Amino acid sequence: MNGHDKSATPLLRLTDVNTYYGQIHILQDVNLEVYPGELVCLLGGNASGKSTTLKTILGLVTPASGTVEFAGEEVQHRSTSYRIERGMAVVPENRRIFADMSVDENLQMGAYLRNDKAEIEQDRERVLELFPRLRERLNQLGGTLSGGEQQMLAMGRALMSRPRLILMDEPSMGLAPLLVEQNFQIIREINEQGTTIFMVEQNANMALSIADRGYVLQTGRIVLEDVAENLLQNEQLRKAYLGR
Ligand SMILES: Nc1ncnc2c1ncn2[C@@H]1O[C@H](COP(=O)(O)OP(=O)(O)OP(=O)(O)O)[C@@H](O)[C@H]1O
Ligand SMILES: [Mg+2]
Repeated sequence: MNGHDKSATPLLRLTDVNTYYGQIHILQDVNLEVYPGELVCLLGGNASGKSTTLKTILGLVTPASGTVEFAGEEVQHRSTSYRIERGMAVVPENRRIFADMSVDENLQMGAYLRNDKAEIEQDRERVLELFPRLRERLNQLGGTLSGGEQQMLAMGRALMSRPRLILMDEPSMGLAPLLVEQNFQIIREINEQGTTIFMVEQNANMALSIADRGYVLQTGRIVLEDVAENLLQNEQLRKAYLGR
């Protein structure tokens, strides 16, 4: 999607969020929005607070102040399971698929909150069309998949909950460049089919090549935000992350 409808309610909105681990102040007055249909990335180096932002969105940590709104509802004091029931799904750092379950069982786990059997089957079919590699390996144990295949399975499992928002933590991590490129094309396709995506990435070039907009996080603060094409041209960002 190019350019969001500014009159729409953001699907996700963080307002003046401050998150601590004990005494350590990590996220500092973070503000960001993701509109329905967008693919938005959060860029930043190691330890800048990217995963902490996702944990705050998911309710794995509670912010000391500020609000997290999902589809117009404040959820910062709600449980993670509540947020997942409301339509968030996550593709966590390092995938975290169920190693002792088959590919098919992993996919079915993604739909555990649903009971619309026929539509679950449709979504499974859609996932297997997006990821033909998974179809070839339906009965293989998750733990025996390659890193790239595990990434596909984690994305497929997230899709099986028919989410309104998919949160991704560094989908490029540990993958060879060619596989990163392939997986990012699929992420773009998932977005083009209508799922809103918020992605955390260190690989700024790859993320901006598919995103509508991006934010840059530096030691817990948003220091830049713009449409992807402007960020790709941004001198500050080029020096810091794009290696040019
Ligand atoms: N549970 C915790 N307790 C204390 N400090 C933590 C905890 N989790 C993360 N931190 C610290 O918070 C800071 C931000 O961590 P975070 O995981 O959000 O960074 P990140 O941007 O995701 O980094 P990376 O790119 O390495 O994944 C780091 O300094 C980290 O050590
Ligand atoms: Mg992280």
